[in-house]
Amino acid sequence: MKIIIVGATGTMGSFLAAAFETEHQVVRVASKGGDIQADITSTTSIESMFKQVGPFDALISTAGPTYVGPWAKMSDKEFRKGIEGKLMGQINLILIGQKYINTKGSFTLITGALTEEPQKNFANASAANGAVEGFVRAAAIELENGIRINAVSPTVIEASPEYFPYFPGEIPTTMRQLEYAFRKSLFGAHTGQIIKTY
Ligand SMILES: NC(=O)c1ccc[n+]([C@@H]2O[C@H](COP(=O)([O-])OP(=O)(O)OC[C@H]3O[C@@H](n4cnc5c(N)ncnc54)[C@H](OP(=O)(O)O)[C@@H]3O)[C@@H](O)[C@H]2O)c1
Repeated sequence: MKIIIVGATGTMGSFLAAAFETEHQVVRVASKGGDIQADITSTTSIESMFKQVGPFDALISTAGPTYVGPWAKMSDKEFRKGIEGKLMGQINLILIGQKYINTKGSFTLITGALTEEPQKNFANASAANGAVEGFVRAAAIELENGIRINAVSPTVIEASPEYFPYFPGEIPTTMRQLEYAFRKSLFGAHTGQIIKTY
């Protein structure tokens, strides 16, 4: 299977790329580094990435930039980081990628537990996650040629200890749980699902 991982140089993406490349062809994408560079806030850049990769079987996105910071400093400008990044960036990966993906391929986006369990400093991610999850359910009934779409929703992951203080009482998602949530989406039959690890 040819798998594109957008966000492949990050904490989640680098782990998933290493896990999947033993069995599959993995194409690593990020705005800097990786095999191919693409900025998901630019539709031109996304289109160029798909043209370079050619036909593929699965796309994983672990690229979802958002504003993390105090509510008092939140304005339209900060909020747009998540809207243009985690929300429209991931939606445009689907709207453009559907022209390049093979029949019976799959898309798997990243959201997070903040959709349902907000924490201070993360309102931008909560809002972007909720919108991405609504899009996933809707896209599942529109995509053609057996193409599936799901989102993986973890709580704070064990490889991100810097975030632990912001998630009091949360048992972190292990990297194995994260990998297997993506495995369920890529290799299972689900579509339109939010695959939670918490
Ligand atoms: N870490 C957690 O505990 C946790 C838990 C639940 C949900 N999440 C969500 O999961 C996602 C990934 O988390 P992470 O901790 O793996 O993040 P991370 O370590 O910051 O990695 C983000 C990845 O996305 C890429 N990226 C960022 N902006 C991009 C853009 N505009 N275009 C293309 N690539 C871009 C980064 O590479 P470049 O910088 O080179 O672009 C990097 O490869 C985030 O949306 C986060 O909200 C994280």
